[in-house]
Amino acid sequence: MASPHFAAQIDASLFTGTPDFPFYLPAVSFDGSRVEIAGRTLLGFASNDYLGLARHPGVIGAAQQALAKFGASTNGSRVLNGSTTLHEALERSLADWLGSEDCVLFPTGYQACMGVVATVGARASAVVLDREAHASLFDGARQSGARVCRFEHNDVLALRRRLKALDRGALVVVDSVYSMSGDVAPLAEIHACCSEFGATLLIDEAHGLGVLGQGHGGAYAAGVTGTDTLVVGTFSKALGSIGGFAVGSSQFALELRSKCRSQLFSAALSPASTAAALEALNILRAEPARVARASARAATIRAALREDGLPLSNCASTIVPVVLSDAARVLHAWQHCFDSGVYVNAVLAPAAPAGRALLRVSCTADHRESDCQQLIDVLRGALRLGGAGEAR
Ligand SMILES: Cc1ncc(COP(=O)(O)O)c(C=O)c1O
Repeated sequence: MASPHFAAQIDASLFTGTPDFPFYLPAVSFDGSRVEIAGRTLLGFASNDYLGLARHPGVIGAAQQALAKFGASTNGSRVLNGSTTLHEALERSLADWLGSEDCVLFPTGYQACMGVVATVGARASAVVLDREAHASLFDGARQSGARVCRFEHNDVLALRRRLKALDRGALVVVDSVYSMSGDVAPLAEIHACCSEFGATLLIDEAHGLGVLGQGHGGAYAAGVTGTDTLVVGTFSKALGSIGGFAVGSSQFALELRSKCRSQLFSAALSPASTAAALEALNILRAEPARVARASARAATIRAALREDGLPLSNCASTIVPVVLSDAARVLHAWQHCFDSGVYVNAVLAPAAPAGRALLRVSCTADHRESDCQQLIDVLRGALRLGGAGEAR
């Protein structure tokens, strides 16, 4: 059942004629690209397990060993009793993979994003965010106490105008891949703009890590990896686990370890989650073909929908947005997919910008080409049902 808070943001009348509520659906089991819900096995295109690692035997084995060795909980914050050798090993491995001096783990991606923006934003002249940046980044900006500004989504000229009007020393916050639209940020241009106006760039790699730049992320793909750039992210997408991280200079890591409230005042990432993420990173290093496969599946779907006239870009992200604009059309199209045996996500405001409600399709390395074909056929039926779509 939806939380009252969430339900309060959706007009209940939209659900007329929609027998299945598309949110908070409890899965009975997951098996790679298949998900069992309410007694039915559906083809799943709704997971963020982009590399198919959450159920990889090596990842599960590593989590089981950590559980047996360290127990189910860390029972405390990293700063006091919650640190283990596993946490330090994951921090070293991730800093190395991302070409950074240091890394700090967080219990969740949300806490990493929110805490880092709040901490760094507190000493910035202003926090300037892409309008479609993740909610956790906006929450951090509000907590920072700094002046908060937005700029038009992925619009470097709009960012330039903003920064020109502000004092030097602003913090600019963007996602490398936008979680709902799948848009890839023009990071090289954004970085150049930040350098020109003396701003610090912070990139959320939640959906870029394991996907772009041969798995190193969007910052790496754009050549933006200096110590002047800060990166946050999560293990809950391509790395098949739970937990968040921040990477950057040693000085930045020290600042987080000593000042960041969501780091200091929350229990450390569980041993099983830490070991799972560490093993997932090992597999990512060893099996680069997974990265290529996940993007190739999304490319197949994008190309087919483009043939139908949907204006989708050919970016490398694993997320394919089918924008239907109006929430009622999205819910009906979602229902058509569900009834046809395909599980995608219905994304309404506030998760999508007003007037840009969408079906979100996410691809993983576990999908076969035949799965993509089935999805495409079902989506075509759904689009006829919902009227001609608009997508990007
Ligand atoms: C762009 C982005 N940043 C941060 C987060 C938060 O990560 P987590 O769900 O692992 O806490 C998410 C997850 O929804 C996300 O999509």
